[in-house]
Amino acid sequence: MKNITVLGAGVMGHGAAQLFAQAGKNVRIRARRESSLEKARELITNSLKIMVEKEMLTESELEQTLNRITYTTDLHEAIEGTDFILESIPEVLETKLETYEIIESVVSEKTIISSNTSTFPLEELTKQAKHPERFIITHFFNPPQLVPIVEIVKFDKTSEDIVQSTYDVMKEIGKSPVVLKKEITGFIVNRVQVAMLREAFHLMEQGVATAEDIDIAMKGSMGFKWAFCGPMESQDLAGLQTTKAMVGNIMQDLSNTREVPSFLKEMVEKDELGIRTNEGFYKYDDYGENAIHTRDDHFLDLLKLMQEKANKENGLINSK
Ligand SMILES: NC(=O)c1ccc[n+]([C@@H]2O[C@H](COP(=O)([O-])OP(=O)(O)OC[C@H]3O[C@@H](n4cnc5c(N)ncnc54)[C@H](O)[C@@H]3O)[C@@H](O)[C@H]2O)c1
Repeated sequence: MKNITVLGAGVMGHGAAQLFAQAGKNVRIRARRESSLEKARELITNSLKIMVEKEMLTESELEQTLNRITYTTDLHEAIEGTDFILESIPEVLETKLETYEIIESVVSEKTIISSNTSTFPLEELTKQAKHPERFIITHFFNPPQLVPIVEIVKFDKTSEDIVQSTYDVMKEIGKSPVVLKKEITGFIVNRVQVAMLREAFHLMEQGVATAEDIDIAMKGSMGFKWAFCGPMESQDLAGLQTTKAMVGNIMQDLSNTREVPSFLKEMVEKDELGIRTNEGFYKYDDYGENAIHTRDDHFLDLLKLMQEKANKENGLINSK
């Protein structure tokens, strides 16, 4: 699969386009506005430059990567003759359905249509589709050019060939794909994340810990471990008799609320949205520019370490 189209040039789209181009694919990225494309071009260039600074990429690889990306506002131009489409436009069902209708009227039956949706089931996404068997979800994580995992989600109509080809292309671009055995809301990662957030919010509401305390505790424990030793493997290493006792003693005391906590609703009502409004669990004075820069710098260091280890072990983590 040589020709890739990324639809949407926002938070996720630009990073995914960069990723495909780094892996040698010809990439067309489409946004509705020139200004979104300009911004995407700038973000991709900056991200690649940092990789050069960290010696993860050479200057000539940077140039080649940039040359492989074509920017367009024309949907037809973006999708004609393409092999694989990553739809990464806003999470609005009608918008996605309208886009798929146009796509299916232009591309060949062999073109794979993947969505980066975080919430819509394939049954909904394909309700007007002519060929539902070539629809699949590839769920990336922000920033997609750095976070190794992609969740691949199929449904009963997705053909096994499409699943295999999607898996192969994710491997080719250096991702660690996980194919879900069956579709479920939130997939794997966001379900586990939300279960954890429910408890973290509960601890805050109970006055046990502040947001900062929770971040310090988690970064220094699960955060430290999980990049190399997942939660299940960690239990084997600890001993499952200990896991049984821990789960048995603590689980009964955990929050089982099904409500979004009222403090979170109030924060959103007060426009405390995080970096977007300079105030969330923390305060910012630059709309998070520094925080994002620091985060990506750390992520790159971790990614480099993971790549070096994976290259040694011939593993699955992002590699050039
Ligand atoms: N942001 C995340 O952390 C994240 C993580 C995983 C998956 N996702 C999913 O990825 C998708 C994109 O999210 P995002 O955060 O990149 O969004 P975004 O708002 O940052 O970017 C959306 C892009 O789509 C374009 N667009 C807007 N309206 C459009 C339309 N009517 N037709 C075509 N293009 C249009 C915008 O110009 C923009 O380039 C969503 O489905 C989202 O659920 C997001």
